[in-house]
Amino acid sequence: MQRILLDTDTGVDDALAIILALNTPEMKVEAITTVSGNVYVDFCTRNVMLTLNAMDLGEYPIIAQGERQPLVKPLVTAAHVHGSDGLGDVTKLHGPDGSRSYPDPELRLAAASAVDLIIDLACQHPNDLVLVALGPLTNIAKAMDKNPNQMRNIKEIVLMGGAFETYGNVTTTAEFNIFVDPHAAQRVLDFGVPITLVPLDVTHRVMLKSERLKAECGVRSDRLAKFLRDATRVSMAYHHQREGFDGIYIHDALPIGLIARPDLFDTADAFVQVETSGQLTQGMTIADLRQGRPALKTNARVCVGVNAEGFIEHFFDCILST
Ligand code: BDR
Ligand code: CA
Repeated sequence: MQRILLDTDTGVDDALAIILALNTPEMKVEAITTVSGNVYVDFCTRNVMLTLNAMDLGEYPIIAQGERQPLVKPLVTAAHVHGSDGLGDVTKLHGPDGSRSYPDPELRLAAASAVDLIIDLACQHPNDLVLVALGPLTNIAKAMDKNPNQMRNIKEIVLMGGAFETYGNVTTTAEFNIFVDPHAAQRVLDFGVPITLVPLDVTHRVMLKSERLKAECGVRSDRLAKFLRDATRVSMAYHHQREGFDGIYIHDALPIGLIARPDLFDTADAFVQVETSGQLTQGMTIADLRQGRPALKTNARVCVGVNAEGFIEHFFDCILST
């Protein structure tokens, strides 16, 4: 059983990742921490609660709210992809009786900040806690700066981020999570705990097609199935218009899948660096991933391949198993 802490800027694919993590039998979600990214952190925290409320959970993980702003840059958000509330505008939906389908949830938050909770859990579970980062790396970089000794107890960081042999999704060269806080990303890469990056190179190969979603949960009337349909609608429309397919990328679900099902992924060791200041290339991730040229110095593992169909099977097997 792998203990994980999810650090998330809860947008639509983050919500799917949370649902997958909590339904992965080999995983124990110790805590969820939030960070500004797709939307401001307050909305991200609300979205965590709305996502958890859509599931039948006996026990909730500890939740702590994190940083509002990246280390150096002003925040850039992605509400155009995820809806103005970050969760496909579910908070604007109303039922037939006029009441809100997803009213503001009660926020049951830890007293500690995300940064302090990350440090505390690293200390409580030495070499046993995997940090899964699904948003900008601001909280994690700050935790490293605040208490480097405790943070060295982290077993591994698995993060969704980067674009190597493909275009970026926020600029031509940069992937969103790294672009929003490139300074934090470089800090985390420099820190020296094992890191695995799951970049756009693989997440763009895994599409959750609208037809498949319909087939899996179109006929179900339970809360989770309704949430999956409602929360993905705005993002589906965005992808249809912008990416030209009927479905969505589910970037943040992939790191969760990688931990439970490493057999579905190929990885390569590499030396990864982040462009923190380039005018046209800020947030770009750089590594030589050419096969047959092993890096002389490495600081990370990069996912370079995925069994997309196998991943989608795994995703639905886990989340709709009940
Ligand atoms: C990443 O950016 C965010 O919009 C998604 O939630 C994901 O974490 C993909 O580039
Ligand atoms: Ca995210």
